[in-house]
Amino acid sequence: MCQDCQKKTFYITTPIYYPSDNLHIGHAYCSTAVDTMARFKKMTGYDTYFLTGTDEHGQKIERKAKEKGVTPQAYVDHIVDGIKDLWKLMDIQYDDFIRTTDQRHVACVQKLFKQLYDQGDIYKSEYEGWYCTPCESFWTELQLKDGKCPDCGRPVEKTREESYFFKLSKYQDWLIQYIEEHPDFIQPASRANEMMNNFLKPGLEDLCVSRTSIQWGIPVTFDPKHTVYVWLDALSNYISALGYGTDHDELYRKYWPADVHMVGKEIVRFHTIIWPIMLHALGLPLPKQVFGHGWLVIDGKKMGKSVGNVVDPVVLCNRYSSDAVRYFLMREMPFGSDGEFTLKAMLTRINADLANDLGNLVSRTVAMIEKYFGGQIPAADAVEDVDRALWQLAEELPGKVEKQMDALQFSGALQEIWKLIGECNKYIDVTQPWVLGREDAGKPRLRTVLYTLAECVRRVAALIGFVMPRTPARIYAQLGVTDLALTDWASVQKPFGVLPAGLQVHKGEALFPRLDIQKELERDAPKTEAPKAEKQPAKQPEKKKHAEPEYPAEIEIDDFFKCKLQVARVLACEKVEKSKKLLKFQLSLGKDGTRTVVSGIAQYYTPEELVGRQVVLISNLKTAKLAGIESQGMILSAVDAEDHLKLVSVQEGVEDGAIIG
Ligand code: MSP
Repeated sequence: MCQDCQKKTFYITTPIYYPSDNLHIGHAYCSTAVDTMARFKKMTGYDTYFLTGTDEHGQKIERKAKEKGVTPQAYVDHIVDGIKDLWKLMDIQYDDFIRTTDQRHVACVQKLFKQLYDQGDIYKSEYEGWYCTPCESFWTELQLKDGKCPDCGRPVEKTREESYFFKLSKYQDWLIQYIEEHPDFIQPASRANEMMNNFLKPGLEDLCVSRTSIQWGIPVTFDPKHTVYVWLDALSNYISALGYGTDHDELYRKYWPADVHMVGKEIVRFHTIIWPIMLHALGLPLPKQVFGHGWLVIDGKKMGKSVGNVVDPVVLCNRYSSDAVRYFLMREMPFGSDGEFTLKAMLTRINADLANDLGNLVSRTVAMIEKYFGGQIPAADAVEDVDRALWQLAEELPGKVEKQMDALQFSGALQEIWKLIGECNKYIDVTQPWVLGREDAGKPRLRTVLYTLAECVRRVAALIGFVMPRTPARIYAQLGVTDLALTDWASVQKPFGVLPAGLQVHKGEALFPRLDIQKELERDAPKTEAPKAEKQPAKQPEKKKHAEPEYPAEIEIDDFFKCKLQVARVLACEKVEKSKKLLKFQLSLGKDGTRTVVSGIAQYYTPEELVGRQVVLISNLKTAKLAGIESQGMILSAVDAEDHLKLVSVQEGVEDGAIIG
């Protein structure tokens, strides 16, 4: 709790990045997630602090600077400016940017190191073992995999030198107990098991925490030929940035312990073993949570410079807007799991969710208000159940979004918002304002319908800003909203009807113009997906995934009636393990019972968006085994212009199990 403003505090961090002149979209993923969370917490009333920065010491930088013939400091100074530019481009709005070469950080690390030494937790000895420079990690002979780094698979170097050691082993039992008693400390839970089984239970060895062979590091004050091990140095940033150990430690006192350290899964180990032991040994509280998110992968391989499969976020943002890139990163993958990055998936999502669902809703709403009411938002008049249902959904939305965000489920939060957008678009189809505009004398129903849509659009705009910071202002401009009180979190918590009638709408440009995916893929492929795309001739027409079977020119009506087509409702749906394509469904056929069906649509739908929906099933198809599961029927789908499967559906109101024919 902040003593001055009486708000609850929320402190969130990204890892500090190794200075690199081409951070890729995988790096941007982590920063976008943290920025999104920080914005959400700010919006919902927390006194939020968001820290990021750069991890500038170590052998890797020392060598790169040497190759370029510059000092390590000059080398990192230049790169850090570029990283800050990238964050600006992506609207990553941090409160502080710490560099491990900052004097404030250096002094803090030296103090911590000395304290640990003075109290006997750090001692001098000799290190003999292996070192992976890209990971800045020590490994024993036994830990190596085929003689290489078990984390990144790259060659390791034999190291033997006088070193200081940190007594990790002394704290092993304490840490095991701590993790067991604090199930939220390491999330997702699977990562906690991994730490326990792979590192803690087999036993911790004392950690080498100084080097004499590396000059580019923080000198140990009482033995200056040693520099501090980069991970000890880097982890301390989370408190050095808050002024810990200085006379100006107000931020430390206000924000520590951190609420979340967000880190990629490969560095969970450092954050949940070395860091908590350091803090505990220093008598300091532990961060409340370390969340290990998954990687962006290409063809299953982690996107990274060493693999050479990197995608440049600058190209993507300049072309498709940072809001669209941020939306895609937060919507596409469930946070915590790895996610395949493809340009095509991104463009498809931009078209489907942003251009079609959101963009069309805004433009249709504004256009109809212009057409029927001279551009003035009408007041609601005659209200019916169909309106009330939408109002209720809109009123319940903030709570649902907050629940997802508290679990760091960005994709889930966006799905909730897009459910409202989807329902609004359906509401237009059902209420048919163009018919009301023709027939309805005095237009009481039309007033209600268009007011309802405008207020829903306002609520959507007020809710999406934490992911897409630039889009709300563009929507407000179209709705004629200028009063800030109509744009905040409090305004979406109030009962439906906050938007004042009478505002003048202004039709603007399309929020997200529809992209020609094929053209974009041809234009962008060499730049953004270099290794894959360069192997293919650029203009080769894309092969259709869903080729049409050969149909007879005519069939008898009896042939058609051999197929029993029924409406089925999705009761449950889940991904089939080890399959990228298959989803397993539990379907209800009403009084005809339930069916298990496996269908190859996992690339086009998530299980969550299907539960509750009605689909069309061939229910008398011979049972077939798919991925070892008996599939009792086939769900019908059609292919859209972009070669994507879309489920065939029926209008609401048809009973589960109803026969189609
Ligand atoms: N310097 C260390 C962190 C020290 S924190 C005290 C480091 N730096 S890094 O630049 O290599 O990585 C920064 C973050 O980017 C990490 O969380 C890492 O997991 C993340 N990513 C790097 N490549 C990534 C993907 N391909 N996908 C998702 N995140 C990725 O580690």
